[in-house]
Amino acid sequence: MRDGLWKRSRSFRQAIGSTLHYQPLTLRDGRQRLRQDPSLARAAFEEVLRFESPVQTFFRTTTRAVEVAGVRLGEGEKILLFLAAANRDPRRWEDPERFDITRKASGHLAFGVGIHGCVGMAVARLEAEIVLGLLARKVEAIELAGEPERRFNNTLRGLARLPVKLRPA
Ligand code: HEM
Repeated sequence: MRDGLWKRSRSFRQAIGSTLHYQPLTLRDGRQRLRQDPSLARAAFEEVLRFESPVQTFFRTTTRAVEVAGVRLGEGEKILLFLAAANRDPRRWEDPERFDITRKASGHLAFGVGIHGCVGMAVARLEAEIVLGLLARKVEAIELAGEPERRFNNTLRGLARLPVKLRPA
């Protein structure tokens, strides 16, 4: 169980890495706004989850024959769900390729959904709010100190390396 949770926490670390990645690159005034209004930390994290989708895909197995969006599926079939694609579906999101922390990103599928939805989502959200809130208050600037490196994985999207320099507030 502990081992499983540790592995799960990799998606959290990747999400935090992505959050910092977007902070220096796209939120130049974001930290300033976060400092004035720490409640934005939650919205910023939700938008990173929507935009980056740390868990890109997930399998399900049908327990009975079913029709989904006009497609008939038999019993016991493997279905690959593209959570990341749903999170940028233009039928659901306005201008989905735009990263915007003021967007209402709740309703994204980065944590999955239903009976097997992520059991750690509340912990992940709490941790992110604490980390981002602290960074907003204690750090004046976050600068890239080298090229970020992607971690290659068929399912998880995140960074292997994110060299940053922090300037204290
Ligand atoms: C940003 C961080 C995280 C992301 C994006 C994430 C994402 C996901 C996704 C997509 C699933 C599959 C949901 C489904 O099948 O519908 C999942 C399941 C799960 N997650 Fe997370 N997760 C994160 C953090 C965590 C943390 C911190 C924990 C533990 C403390 C955790 C524990 C689990 C467990 C135990 C499951 C399996 C639930 C089940 O099969 O019933 N996750 N997570």
